[in-house]
Amino acid sequence: MVSGGPLPAKIAFVGLPGAGKSSIGRRLAGRLGLPFGDLDEAIEARLGCSVREYFERDGEPAFRDLEARTLVQLAASTELVLATGGGAVLRADNRTLLRDHFHVIYLRASPEDLMRRLRHDIKRPLLQVADPLERLRELHGQRDALYAKTAHSVVGTGRASLSRMVATIIETLERDAVPPAPGGPGLSAKG
Ligand code: S3P
Repeated sequence: MVSGGPLPAKIAFVGLPGAGKSSIGRRLAGRLGLPFGDLDEAIEARLGCSVREYFERDGEPAFRDLEARTLVQLAASTELVLATGGGAVLRADNRTLLRDHFHVIYLRASPEDLMRRLRHDIKRPLLQVADPLERLRELHGQRDALYAKTAHSVVGTGRASLSRMVATIIETLERDAVPPAPGGPGLSAKG
């Protein structure tokens, strides 16, 4: 049973592809009665094509520019649970923006667990390579410290169910989150 002091009304998930940012974020948003946003989906809505198509056609730097601009727009929301794309932490400006506007949670998973979840994936341009596990290990090596320093909380994901993960995240928020200013946005978890 979740008791519930006020929780932040803006929460962002960071982590590698397959960490569960979108599925956990969507479920958490429903539980807290907050809107949910997905950075990749917002980019796709602007583009009218998939992230993979755009990435492959226009290249990663063009994608990162669009990602940064879309993140600025989403950060202006007053209430939001946001699933970022796995590379959103690569730019220092994005990291600062995320930390300043959201309670940021790093969903940390081993490359092996990520690979198990992504073995049939065809959406992620960076993983369409001969050895995706090796690629995930490289990305983990390059990004783990960036995710950790962007985040206010780190939550490990292994084989826990979605509802278990959401419960753990609510407990984490109750422990780590700075209470919102009086009169400012904030809410209590529904039991
Ligand atoms: C990327 C992760 C993807 C997407 C793009 C680049 C990355 O999002 O933004 O393919 O650099 O790790 P997910 O983390 O939702 O897969």
